[in-house]
Amino acid sequence: MSVVDDIKGRLDIVDVISAYVPLKKAGRNFKGLCPFHAEKTPSFVVFPDNQSWHCFGSCGIGGDLFSFIMKKEKLDFGEALQVLAQRAGVELTAHGEEISPEEQNRERVRQVLQTAAAYFHNLLLTAPAAQIARDYVGRRGLNSDTLARFQLGYALDDWEALKRTLLAQGYTTDHLLAAGLLIHNEERGSIYDRFRHRLIIPIRDVQGRVIGFGARAFDDIPPKYLNSPQTVVFDKGHVLYGLDQARRAIRDAGHVVIVEGYMDVLAAHQYGASNVVASMGTALTETQLRQLRRYTNEFVLALDADDAGSQATIRGVALARQALEKETVPVPTASGAVRQEARLAVNVRVMTLPQGFDPDDLIRQDVAQWHALVKAAAPLVDFLFGVAVQENDLNTAKGKATVVRELVPLIQELANPIERAHYVQRLARLTQVDERTIQREIERQAAASAAAGNAERQARHGGPTRLIRTAPVTLAPKPGDGLAGYILQQVMLQPHLLPEADRQLVAMGFVPLGESDFGRSEQRTLLQVLTDLRGRGETWQLPTLQEDVPPFLRAYLADLVAGLQARPLVALDQAAYDLINVVLRLRQSNLQQRLQELRHLQADDAGTQAEASDGERIYRGLVDAHRRDLGKLQVALSRRSLLSQDGQRPTPQAAALTGTENL
Ligand code: UTP
Ligand code: MN
Repeated sequence: MSVVDDIKGRLDIVDVISAYVPLKKAGRNFKGLCPFHAEKTPSFVVFPDNQSWHCFGSCGIGGDLFSFIMKKEKLDFGEALQVLAQRAGVELTAHGEEISPEEQNRERVRQVLQTAAAYFHNLLLTAPAAQIARDYVGRRGLNSDTLARFQLGYALDDWEALKRTLLAQGYTTDHLLAAGLLIHNEERGSIYDRFRHRLIIPIRDVQGRVIGFGARAFDDIPPKYLNSPQTVVFDKGHVLYGLDQARRAIRDAGHVVIVEGYMDVLAAHQYGASNVVASMGTALTETQLRQLRRYTNEFVLALDADDAGSQATIRGVALARQALEKETVPVPTASGAVRQEARLAVNVRVMTLPQGFDPDDLIRQDVAQWHALVKAAAPLVDFLFGVAVQENDLNTAKGKATVVRELVPLIQELANPIERAHYVQRLARLTQVDERTIQREIERQAAASAAAGNAERQARHGGPTRLIRTAPVTLAPKPGDGLAGYILQQVMLQPHLLPEADRQLVAMGFVPLGESDFGRSEQRTLLQVLTDLRGRGETWQLPTLQEDVPPFLRAYLADLVAGLQARPLVALDQAAYDLINVVLRLRQSNLQQRLQELRHLQADDAGTQAEASDGERIYRGLVDAHRRDLGKLQVALSRRSLLSQDGQRPTPQAAALTGTENL
């Protein structure tokens, strides 16, 4: 059971609300003056049966216990959770959830890393022994603002300085070992500081928490950089250095520039190019691309194009990006119909730096030229044309075949048909292979990659039984979650459905999806989180969504995900069509529920007191209004079913869910 349900189970909504609103029993329910708008006749009703409340007066809002407290006390869900948990005697962590032992351990490690970062930083700024480090950063052109912003530091030329200091602060050796700050030499039985006599560069996660260190030697004796080892919070292949400082600028600029080194990031940020992050010298991984995609789809690689390592990185990107989910976009065909095509959701360009310069040198020398070169970055496909030509003998059949095989996937993914034609021509000329042959190869690979894409997507969502589904039949993770849960599941799976559904609802004369569609506070809060993410231009993927939602929503989210059933993948317009049907059905069912409540209230009231006639008049008006709204929904739904004769029809799953099979 989730904490939310636990709390709901321990508290009685009538008790809690009574503290704010004097309530009078009316049949099975309780009535009072609405606390959210001024009124003389009570139209605020609390329903003990399903632990909900609703105002049938002018504000027309309702919800569960949590939403009442949130509105009344002006709290967000997390705060309401704390308040109600205390009232219910339920113990909660600061985050509103139980912290797992693993997370506790990670938190402990982050804690010691943060302490160490502050210690190193303080040394750099103040220790007499750190003069060499201060001279070094001065030579590298780093100003005091950069030192502070990136919390650069200095590790003393001493085997145990950090160990002594942190042990004295109450940290344990095990703790320091787990954080990667100490090295254990088993043969000698000695335990000593990993970082000594180096410039210290704290590495932070997206949220700005220190997770490790890079440490540069003051001379060029290898290793030039020493990094934290893999720990429970640090995995070099997953981190992008500088992302915590860069993410806002990335979104503002509309693109991210990826460099190789720490120093490149420091220089870029110091000179105002803050949309720069570093891969820390390793090949870019899919995880890294995925992280960046939350902020932009436009990637610029600033790597040393002549360097073998960089070439490997760039090719790694070409591969990694193919592993990313593709976006389905509607493409108008010549006949006027619309076809759904898979497009790569990221656009990669490669910028070329002047011979012998790395970004750090260039930015410090001429930041304007840096910006110009970023702007002039060439599409990845151009860059790979160059590499393919360099590496293959185009006079041999084998060389030609290799070049065609390597380049065709890139050409095939280009969105613009004119661009595509351009590269086909270029490849044909380069290899002296007939254009039509290349065209055929492109079509063959397109078919293959569409199939592979589907399989890959299945794998990502946990195998074929966890594919994107159109409409889970056995959904309801909780009673009453059916239609509402379905809607949330769909927009979780396909972020672009959210604006698309709103657009279509508005076009049909209905209001966009909103909190009044959902009864449970978890649902409302989840919708709010998703709407906010969209508003900030971020997209999401099912596997990473857990990190985006507040901790107290995770249990509910996990329920929704677990409720997903295997369904064939459907195209965007079909998914949107199904979704709207379900939204309309949900609204219909909500209205019917309200109507039923109204009828009960009417019956309970009938002829009991003077106020009754007044109440009855109001109820009758409300019943009529609800009936009109229902009628409007009914019309919309039947119009859609007419339309489905030749257009879309609900997928069998959506039909089963909404009961529209026979419409
Ligand atoms: P570079 O050697 O290009 O580093 O390696 P840099 O940032 O330009 O360093 P400076 O300008 O000489 O000070 C690129 C990145 O590869 C990783 C680091 O993340 C570095 O920033 N690297 C490099 C290591 O981890 N260890 C090394 O020994 C060298
Ligand atoms: Mn450098």
